[in-house]
Amino acid sequence: MRDGDVDGWESSSKTMTNGKISVVGLGHVGLVTALGLAEIGWTVVGTDSDPKKLAAIREGKCPFFEPGLQQLLVKHLDSRRFVPNGNLADSISATSVVFICVGTPQKESGEADLSQLDHVARAIAEHSDGNLLLVEKSTAPVTSARWIARTVQQYSRDGVKVNVACNPEFLREGTAVNDFLHPDRIVLGVDCDETRDTLLKIYEPIDCPKLVTDLNTAELIKHSANAFLSTKISFINMVADLCEATGADVTKVAEGMGLDPRIGRAYLGAGIGFGGYCFPKDIRAFVHIGESHRVDMSLLKAAEQINLKRVDRFLEKLRARVWVLRGKTIGILGLAFKAGTDDVRESPALAVVRQLHSQGAILRLYDPQAMDAVRQALPEEPGRLEYVKSPYEVAKQADAVLLLTEWPEFANLDLAKLRDSMRLPVIGDGRNLLDPAAVRVAGIDYFSLGRP
Ligand code: UDX
Repeated sequence: MRDGDVDGWESSSKTMTNGKISVVGLGHVGLVTALGLAEIGWTVVGTDSDPKKLAAIREGKCPFFEPGLQQLLVKHLDSRRFVPNGNLADSISATSVVFICVGTPQKESGEADLSQLDHVARAIAEHSDGNLLLVEKSTAPVTSARWIARTVQQYSRDGVKVNVACNPEFLREGTAVNDFLHPDRIVLGVDCDETRDTLLKIYEPIDCPKLVTDLNTAELIKHSANAFLSTKISFINMVADLCEATGADVTKVAEGMGLDPRIGRAYLGAGIGFGGYCFPKDIRAFVHIGESHRVDMSLLKAAEQINLKRVDRFLEKLRARVWVLRGKTIGILGLAFKAGTDDVRESPALAVVRQLHSQGAILRLYDPQAMDAVRQALPEEPGRLEYVKSPYEVAKQADAVLLLTEWPEFANLDLAKLRDSMRLPVIGDGRNLLDPAAVRVAGIDYFSLGRP
């Protein structure tokens, strides 16, 4: 194990087997992992192939919004526990544990694109010259960890011994820092005692249940957890449609169901459905991997189909109030796929905006964090599509206002002020955030999903 130091990198007081830790990929998972490990006392080299992202991180600027992450970045650049490094070879050759946090986007077929994992495995093979533990943190289909190990072995010079582990992340955007430092559990998929002991040592400062299992089981825990949560959301959205047909209230159904500890209230929030970089792609990847092993995955396919129809159902209800959309001014409250993030990947809110835009509606958009992320994909068109600076500007001369992301600030708006600036007092609530009675008392025609 060469002791070469990465430039400007002090050896940390806490090292295991004289090794150090590197994190490859500094996105929503990697940067949180790198800074979380630094926060619990390790010295971590972070590497990313995107020079712009790395430059921002080096300057102490988080490339995305994640509560609490900016402070951790500044803190551990100062403490030198976190060392951004653009050179993958340097990081690999100077560490004994490499957390792989690169993206696993989906292909058209729904299959996970593992090319970034393959690239890192081959780079590791080329640059590592000693014992190395590769920790697969990226969400990847079952058997990927084994493929990483095999690829490194195939492309390595003689004598390189590589162990592989699967340590899936359960980070939710918007609460990722807390989810890393205070997880419900840590899952460790390992295939030898040495790997188990190294990972238990790394995570020693975190007090939570630690489940040690084999690689494939660990990968399946991750995919199954996400698929189950997605299915739970689609289940309550199916119930929401039945509530509408029968005059029941889905939020009360969810409350009643959730009082059963076997069910729990979380993820029983009906609305325009799940988005983000994980649920939509993970459910498709899970179906794909299941079907490639000839397992009937129709339960998940049904859950995905329910989710894909939420936006159309919501827009049907809008049309039932404002009739023709072309030329109508629609105010949009919320663009991110959920509150607490600036991430708009697979955002149902964005799907609503795109459909309205393509049908000729005039759009006024507001989101506390995500407008910059949208601006690139949907540039401003004066008089057709405008980004405004406050939730109230969204309502100006609007024929309807749509609440599409459950930002807490939207729950406390001055409804009379909104109503007075609208042309038509219509509010569509895609996240069942508002109190229907309060909105109607304010003289506003209100619709949501699954409530009378
Ligand atoms: C998810 C998993 O929760 C996390 O464990 C995994 O590591 C990554 O994927 P994330 O996608 O960041 O996290 O956000 P999450 O809070 O789970 O919400 C996912 C989507 O489901 C959002 O679009 C949210 O609006 C939607 N959702 C969530 C509902 O529609 N109803 C709910 O009740 C809860």
